[in-house]
Amino acid sequence: MCGIIAYTGSRQAAPILLAGLRDLEYRGYDSAGVALLPEAGSEPAVAKRRGKIAELDGAIGEHALPAAHTGIGHTRWATHGSPSDANAHPHTGCGSDVVIVHNGIVENYAALRAELAGRGHAFDSETDTETIAHLLEERLDAGSDLLAAMREACARLTGSHAIVALSPREPGIVVGARIGNAGGVVVGYGKGEMLLSSDLAALLPHTREVAFLADRQLVRISGDRVDYAGLDGSAADVVPRTLSLDPASADKGAYDTYMRKEIMEQPAALADTIGGLMTVEPPRLSLDDLGEARPWLERVERVLLVGMGTSLHAAMVGRWYFEQIARLPADIDNASEFRYREPVLGPETLVVSVSQSGETVDVLEAMNVARASGAPQITICNTPGSQTTRVADGTVHTYAGLERGVASTKTFTTSIAALFALALETARVRGRISEDDLARHVRDLAAMPEIVGRQLESFDAIAAAAERFRTTDHILFLGRGPALPIALEGALKMKELSYVHAEGYAAGEMKHGPIALIDSGFPTVALAGQHALRSKIVSNIEQIRARDGEVLAVVTEGDDELIALANESLTVPSVPALLEPLAAIVPLQVLAYATAEARGCNIDQPRNLAKTVTVE
Ligand code: AGP
Repeated sequence: MCGIIAYTGSRQAAPILLAGLRDLEYRGYDSAGVALLPEAGSEPAVAKRRGKIAELDGAIGEHALPAAHTGIGHTRWATHGSPSDANAHPHTGCGSDVVIVHNGIVENYAALRAELAGRGHAFDSETDTETIAHLLEERLDAGSDLLAAMREACARLTGSHAIVALSPREPGIVVGARIGNAGGVVVGYGKGEMLLSSDLAALLPHTREVAFLADRQLVRISGDRVDYAGLDGSAADVVPRTLSLDPASADKGAYDTYMRKEIMEQPAALADTIGGLMTVEPPRLSLDDLGEARPWLERVERVLLVGMGTSLHAAMVGRWYFEQIARLPADIDNASEFRYREPVLGPETLVVSVSQSGETVDVLEAMNVARASGAPQITICNTPGSQTTRVADGTVHTYAGLERGVASTKTFTTSIAALFALALETARVRGRISEDDLARHVRDLAAMPEIVGRQLESFDAIAAAAERFRTTDHILFLGRGPALPIALEGALKMKELSYVHAEGYAAGEMKHGPIALIDSGFPTVALAGQHALRSKIVSNIEQIRARDGEVLAVVTEGDDELIALANESLTVPSVPALLEPLAAIVPLQVLAYATAEARGCNIDQPRNLAKTVTVE
């Protein structure tokens, strides 16, 4: 979950590392640090501080860093050891012969620490990471070069890791390693310089030519050279790719927060995603990266969609699409549950994973389970080259651009659009959809960017409705049918941003328990679109009102019956029922945003969270 950046080349490393850390702060923000390697022979200079990057900037101001052309940096989301200066990365061994940053958990760290202590190593921190620095130190002392030392140290670790190290013994060199699914290591190719990072966000200001380390791969970079190797000592041939991602999408632009910018970018992100997957005239789907998964669309008997958090909610919408459009049995599963359940599946099941980052550990482990079972796989992903796209047999890319707000917004709506396209393609190859219906669905989806854009013109009016939630402690979000995932997502956005306790529920569950919560102090947000179950939601609202409950209803424009019934309402445009999720989520994103703002919460960096979850 931590952010890693490394630089070696002809420019001064410190400003590049600090800018990189600011670009990575969404990965974790409880402490940060850098290590710089001045010219040959001198010791690395390490500066690290508890707190956000601003604290580190302040600390560096007090003790200016030396000039250096090589360095590494880290922003941390604590796993072992509380956030403190001592536990912040980078870490060294006993001396300063090696400095490392790390993402992952050393599962055997207690045994390693005892073993190393027994050989005289003294520890400065409570972290599991420090054991890796001491292991590397021992291997360097035994005569290994940094790359070999990394390989030898990795052989002692259990768990998943991304590790980056430098040593004054090898000036101008940085070594990186990836084991398992603790997060990516991306290599950035510059002119006379090379970079490593956990994420594209920190590389894009410098280069768009990148390569992703595969599982159990190592890399050694210098200003003008890169070498790859396998953990088994074999040489590896890795070809970089040039991304079309725009570095400008990493900026906040005119907005106060990334999240507001990303909410407002949804029309463009949807238009780019839809444009990348289909044409309207003539109506044609162009899912060009389905690869070896393509023939399986015709063969499989069921679909299983997996994801976590917001992406799981997108998967829930996708289930509707596969069932309603392709008439294919479809289930969803939380990836972190699926992976441990010994699920029963094989080549008859198409596994569709949804992940904006492509690096979420639970999703990757679920995909490994699916692969071991022989199930064909497709991933819906916003990060080209990421690990889910490498594990899956085929990919449906979303083109939302970088998403920096910890709370996902534009990648939710674009994932839904991609799932819609995949369900259409599945229906087409299985002969379950007529040309006319296909054309109608394509037209309907293509109209959504403009519709969402019109909704967002009312951002401030929607935000005003959040005033009622400024002092509330609890909110219930109710939905049915395709609106259920939206209720769950609305509740997730509310709790992660504003820290208000929010529960998303299937409206049909109300009378089975949750209605006991309702009184005049317990507000409900009810999603009441035009889908076939609208009348059932009307009953739910009546039952809540009869118990003095307050209802904010999200209704279709012109639905006067519901507008009269609810205490307050937010309207969404009339769109085909299957596409209602794309319209209905917009007011809920804005409500959560405005509630968090009114409560003084940090919108882009909610407490305890990190954007990409790479540890269990
Ligand atoms: C929600 O706002 C979060 N960003 C989170 O739930 C996220 O959707 C989840 O961690 C999955 O991430 P992924 O899409 O990168 O796999």
